[in-house]
Amino acid sequence: MSETTADTTAATPDGRTTPARRGAAHDSAFLRACRHEPVPHTPVWFMRQAGRSLPEYLKVREGIPMLESCMRPELVKEITLQPVRRHKVDAAIFFSDIVVPLKAVGIDVEIKPNVGPVIADPIRTFEDLQRLRPLEPDDVPYITEAVGLLVDELGGTPLIGFAGAPYTLASYLVEGGPSKNHENTKAMMYGQPELWAALVDRLADITSAFLKVQIEAGASAIQLFDSWVGSLAPDDYRRSVMPASTKVFDAVAHYGVPRIHFGVGTGELLGLMGQAGADIVGVDWRVPLNVAADRVGPGKGLQGNLDPAVLFAPTKVVETKAREVLHAAQALGDSGHIFNLGHGVLPSMDPDALSRLVAFVHEASAR
Ligand code: CP3
Repeated sequence: MSETTADTTAATPDGRTTPARRGAAHDSAFLRACRHEPVPHTPVWFMRQAGRSLPEYLKVREGIPMLESCMRPELVKEITLQPVRRHKVDAAIFFSDIVVPLKAVGIDVEIKPNVGPVIADPIRTFEDLQRLRPLEPDDVPYITEAVGLLVDELGGTPLIGFAGAPYTLASYLVEGGPSKNHENTKAMMYGQPELWAALVDRLADITSAFLKVQIEAGASAIQLFDSWVGSLAPDDYRRSVMPASTKVFDAVAHYGVPRIHFGVGTGELLGLMGQAGADIVGVDWRVPLNVAADRVGPGKGLQGNLDPAVLFAPTKVVETKAREVLHAAQALGDSGHIFNLGHGVLPSMDPDALSRLVAFVHEASAR
C-alpha cells in the first residue's frame, strides 16, 4: 500500500477536507501492521466487538431500535468506545450496520432482533432498481458527526469504518431478508445478468459513497464486509461480483487509508479477493494463515482467524489456539498480520474471555 500521506493532506480531489487529526493514530500498532512496518506487538480487534456480548451495550440500547441507535451520534460514540475501554483492543470499529446506507437512500429496511435485516419490498426487477438512488453525504449527517466525535475521543486508537460489499447487500435486497441458500439472488445473477450487473453497480456506488463519508470524517481504515460471498464458485465471483467490489476499492484508493476485505467461507476465493483491490484480506478459521498467505499472494496483509467458538473452551485451549494463529501468521514475516476472530463475536460470549485473549495476543507476540 502507498504511504498514508492522506492523513495530513488538507483536501481530497473532490474538494472536501480530510481531518489532520486522523494523524494521531498514524503510529498505532494496527496501522503499522497494515503498512507492513515493524510493530511492538500483533494488533488485535474483533469483528462485532461492540454489541450484545457486553452488558453495558444492552443497557444503553434498551428500548432503542437497532437502526435508530445508528442515527444517534452520542450513542454511537459510546457503543463504539465500550469494547475499546473494556478489552484494550488496538482498533475501534464504528458502530453502525451494513444496511444503514440502504435505509438512508429510502429503502424500507428494519433490523429484526435475532433475525437480521428485513426489507419490506425486495428488489427483483429493473423497475424496483429505480428505488435504489445514489447516496449523498447529506443523507447521513449523523455518520459524519459520530465519526468526528469518535476520532476526537479516540486519540491514538484508530477507527475502522466499514460498509457491506455489493454481493452481501444484494443478497438482503433481493431475498428480502437473511437467506441460507441465496436462491433468488443467484437466480437473478445467473438468469438476468444485465439486471444483476446494474444492481451491484448501484450498490458499489452507494457503498463507495458511504465509505468516503467515514474516511473524510476521520476514519483511519475501512473494511468491506462481504459476509455471504463464500456461497459463490470462483468463476461466478470473478464474472459477476468482483468488478463491483473492485469499483469500491478503487473509489477510495486515493485516500491512502488501509482497505480490508472480509468474507466467510472464502477458502476458494482468497486469491481473487486478493486481486479485487484490498490491502488486507480477512480470513475465516477454515484456512490456516500460512496457507491463506500463499493463496492471497505477496504484498497483502492478513486479518484473522481464530474460530469464534474456541472462546467457549477453557482459557488454556484459547491460548493454545491463539498461539497457533500467531505461528501460522509468521509466514507473512514480522508484520502484516492483524489478529481477529474468523467471524464476529457471538452474543453469548464471555466478555472476560475476550479481554484475556487481547492481553494474551499482546504478550505472546511482543517483539
Ligand atoms: O462491533 C462491530 O463490529 C460494529 C458494528 C456492526 C454491526 N453490524 C452492528 C450490529 C458491524 C460491523 C455490522 C456488520 C454487519 N451487519 C454484517 C457483516 C458482518 C458479519 O457479521 O458478517 C452483516 C451481515 C450485518 C447484517 C446484520 N445486522 C445481522 C446479520 C444482524 C444480526 C441480527 C441478530 O439480531 O442476530 C444485524 C444486527 C446488528 N448489527 C446487531 C449489531 C450489534 C445486533 C442487533 C441488536 O443489538 O439489537
